[in-house]
Amino acid sequence: YGISQQSQGVAVAPAAAVQPAATLTILYASQTGNAKGVAEALKAQADAAGIQAGLFNVADFKVKQLKKETHLLIVTSTNGEGEPPDDAIEFHKQLKAGKVGKLDGLHYAVLGLGDSSYEFFCQTAKDFDEYLANAGGKRLLDRIDCDVDYDAAAESWSKSAISLLEDALKVEQAAANGAVVSLPQTAGVYSKKKPYQAELITNQKITGRDSDKDIRHIEISLEGSGLSYQPGDALGVWFDNDPALVDALLAQVGVAADAKVKVDDEVLSIREALIRHYELTQGYASFVQAYAELSGAKKLLKLVEDKAALREYCAEHQILDIAREKKTKLTVEQLQAALRRLTPRLYSIASSQAEVEEEVHLTLGVVRFEQKGEERSGGASSFLADRVAEGGQVRVFVEHNDNFRLPANGDTPVIMVGPGTGIAPFRAFMQEREAQDAAGQNWLFFGNPHFTQDFLYQIEWQRYVKSGLLNKVSLAFSRDQAEKVYVQHKLREQGAEVYAWLEQGAHFYVCGDANQMAKDVHEALIELVAEHGGQSREQAEEYVDALRSAKRYQRDVY
Ligand code: 2AM
Repeated sequence: YGISQQSQGVAVAPAAAVQPAATLTILYASQTGNAKGVAEALKAQADAAGIQAGLFNVADFKVKQLKKETHLLIVTSTNGEGEPPDDAIEFHKQLKAGKVGKLDGLHYAVLGLGDSSYEFFCQTAKDFDEYLANAGGKRLLDRIDCDVDYDAAAESWSKSAISLLEDALKVEQAAANGAVVSLPQTAGVYSKKKPYQAELITNQKITGRDSDKDIRHIEISLEGSGLSYQPGDALGVWFDNDPALVDALLAQVGVAADAKVKVDDEVLSIREALIRHYELTQGYASFVQAYAELSGAKKLLKLVEDKAALREYCAEHQILDIAREKKTKLTVEQLQAALRRLTPRLYSIASSQAEVEEEVHLTLGVVRFEQKGEERSGGASSFLADRVAEGGQVRVFVEHNDNFRLPANGDTPVIMVGPGTGIAPFRAFMQEREAQDAAGQNWLFFGNPHFTQDFLYQIEWQRYVKSGLLNKVSLAFSRDQAEKVYVQHKLREQGAEVYAWLEQGAHFYVCGDANQMAKDVHEALIELVAEHGGQSREQAEEYVDALRSAKRYQRDVY
């Protein structure tokens, strides 16, 4: 009847199109978006090399599908305790349990992203690498475990992977009607590599005069940038190191401030390079190792042998402190080679554009501590708090986080647990829900040391309670009484009602400290489900796992 397929609105490949013998599958498992970014770059390189590649979030990919794959690249990050990113929990579980069977026909490679200051560095990448090998998969190239400054390492690994695959997979460029690949969302023209020069408009201390903490409410203008964000997203902040710290380090290792070095093809003085491009305010193993060898410092040489002790030491010592373990003269090349590139810091955004339009707000905890009688401070936090004047410039970008989102349905109740600076995204959530006139119930758990000193955004919460937007507020001021009271105690205390909210479909959010708080809250959640749901421990764990898989239990912890 002459009705072509096209006229029925179904696009099909012309019969003559060249079909590749095999295709490449790229999977990513991302928590904050870094792994996704690396995977997208891989996909672009594959495209450029004429390799047909599919790019998928591992959450949308069935383990069983692996049997059909011949060439696979996995890019994955790892959560704090060596757990997979939320999106990869199911995939990881099934692969671990051997659900996939034999993968004799599979060639694969794994790239891990992580933070070497954690004990279980890149554990999820190690797991995937091992499970695929156990199933009979063949390694195309060795896994790499990238540290926080992953850009260069990830790029060169990607290059190797693509060039290895080129021979096997390259096809003549077929018509553009092969597999439909949805293109990644982009955050506009500005990105981590190309940040926006924004104006800092407000820097206001919001903890009291007698507080032990220095927490700032920061407002930054995005006017004219075209940058947009959603509640739950983070702002990436590039910062300058303190010039006084840089000068002290240069003096310590005997390097002249005006010695010239090259960074990314730009020639500049070592002083300028240290201010803008190198990590000085965090200790890290690679510097300890290099400096131990260059200086011969016994203490450092011993530390290098003991991973746990080294991690602890790094957490308490900045680069200058490490260099002070033994005075040693370095060449400018030695100094530059020993240092790690600066990484931007991510801050959970504390505002909604529905309320603040072209501004972005942060709740910034300023890191300050003493090291052998000297003041030390966090790189980005002291930059924003102390070294940028109001009206000054700061380089920023938006880091989307689809793993921390308000329910799509405004009628869904939400429970928010955000002690300390963990309150930030919930200020954004409430601004958003107010603007949307969302009918869902809202319950905030907040904690900090003292009511009079540390009740962040107190007036705003009071206003929301009064207007009826915020239905419940549970407060844990830990040091206002003899016994410590934390948010998890409040959760347990209110267990019956928390469980009732969950049964009504509430989403449960946790933001803040990952080391202790998030774990204790997780435990409290399991316990209250067991108690008030009349469930066994195992059932309660499954209930909580199911909440997580359904994206009803989301965490933004650091
Ligand atoms: P603390 O410093 O008095 O011990 C924000 O930092 C708040 O979180 C503070 O009140 C702090 O109490 C509290 N906090 C410390 N450890 C915690 C934990 N394991 N769980 C929950 N809150 C904790």
